[in-house]
Amino acid sequence: RNDIRIGLFGFGVVGQGLHTVLERTPGLRARIGRIGVKDRTKARNLPAELFTFDRDEVLDDPTLNVIVELIDDADEAYRIVTGALRRGKAVVTANKKMLAEHLQELIELQRETNTPLLYEAAACASLPVIRNLEEYYDTDLLEAVEGIINGSTNYILTAMHRDALTFAAALRKAQELGFAESNPALDVEGLDARNKLVLLLAHAFGLVARPEDILAVGITGISDLASSYAREKGLVLKLVAEARRLPNGGVAAAVLPTLVRPEHELARVQDEYNGLITQSNFADRQFFLGKGAGAVPTASAVLSDLSALTYGYRYEYKKLHQESTLALTPTDAEAD
Ligand code: HSE
Repeated sequence: RNDIRIGLFGFGVVGQGLHTVLERTPGLRARIGRIGVKDRTKARNLPAELFTFDRDEVLDDPTLNVIVELIDDADEAYRIVTGALRRGKAVVTANKKMLAEHLQELIELQRETNTPLLYEAAACASLPVIRNLEEYYDTDLLEAVEGIINGSTNYILTAMHRDALTFAAALRKAQELGFAESNPALDVEGLDARNKLVLLLAHAFGLVARPEDILAVGITGISDLASSYAREKGLVLKLVAEARRLPNGGVAAAVLPTLVRPEHELARVQDEYNGLITQSNFADRQFFLGKGAGAVPTASAVLSDLSALTYGYRYEYKKLHQESTLALTPTDAEAD
């Protein structure tokens, strides 16, 4: 195995989490060689010479062989990731917004440059869903994926239901704990879940959808009353993302607040956890459960991608030839 010398972008919640997990994983011969950051005023707990404010200084550094992109700004992340791939440097990213907005192009760029881009941390954080959808369900045809894929909204809904917290107080706690996006509207409006659903669709069904073509309703309208109503009825309110193959060959996908029965797997998904149910032809129903946000759990998926690069792993996007189409798109709706 070759040594991994990381050019890291971003030193926020997940970037610091990566530093922690690498320190505790001496078996993986990987070290952070340089860190590209934006804020010149922030105090950081690593030697100043590790940091730079110049993107190209990191991308062009010949001693760095893997770029790990963990910044917040999706447009800058796009420049970093495409810049790295064009330089033939393997990339690991957790930036679901950037990936969802540019997925088709990024798939093509990986092929053109023959350079891998891995992003297990971008969907369901610590849960190994992307590689499983891509590999394990390669031959066992998936019928549906359904789950809770945003930790912050699940944290909020859990706190409202179980602890009778107000929406505002629960959101504040999710922010304090580092689960929420820097713009929490992405979480509570269902847009972060929708971005992750775009990634799941590509690996589960070979469908590269545009995020804006997927129906998404968030939880901003969920009042304290709605939470009490669910509780009184013995049901649990969850923000559920779903993609299901239809008999006509299309795939229906949406993110919607949903009332689930207490015996349903998703009712058991609490706090910042994510849960994903797969329904496939042979394996039948399976359930992945684990931490869907937070520094170290999210970094665990980045770590796994780094390790996967050492044995030459890359996404083959094997299902793209299935040519699935999104069943419900604005274009379809207009035609009706
Ligand atoms: N804001 C995201 C969430 C972080 O709450 O799920 C993990 O992607």
